[in-house]
Amino acid sequence: MPENDTALDMTLTVNGRAQSWRVQPGETLLEALQHHNIKGPKLVCGTGDCSACGVIFNGAAINACCMLAAQADGVEVVTVEGLANGAKLHPIQEAFAEAGAAQCGYCTPGFIIRAYALLQENPDPTEEEVRAGFAGSICRCTGYVKPIEAALRAAALLREQRSLEERV
Ligand code: FES
Ligand code: FES
Repeated sequence: MPENDTALDMTLTVNGRAQSWRVQPGETLLEALQHHNIKGPKLVCGTGDCSACGVIFNGAAINACCMLAAQADGVEVVTVEGLANGAKLHPIQEAFAEAGAAQCGYCTPGFIIRAYALLQENPDPTEEEVRAGFAGSICRCTGYVKPIEAALRAAALLREQRSLEERV
């Protein structure tokens, strides 16, 4: 997006790193992330209907295509890239890979972000609760079966990890 004299200066944290950005008044958070080379969240519909652009925004899953970048001033944003610990995948990412929950993969970052937000709130969801957590996420490839299986598998992995940590 070309800069003009109405550009805004802002600071935020993205995936644990402090950022100082200059954004345009109409620039979406998704555009700003992509502009700063954070390419995990995907532009698919651009209208808030598919959640492929999902990110965690101060702890809640939102669609970055529907948020102005300027609204993220002072906010902590986590994208799918930020869930991994260096080269080690997050258990939700592992579960998506193991369950074969990604085909074209366009929806996958959004599903992983939704699963993360859901499991933060509800570590032991039923299949129905996972389905409800994925409401608003569209996948054209998997028929939703594999992403749901992956979220349930991730929940089990995270519970197991937590109980191991509690024992040491
Ligand atoms: S690209 Fe943002 S909701 Fe579809
Ligand atoms: S894997 Fe292709 S849209 Fe979901």
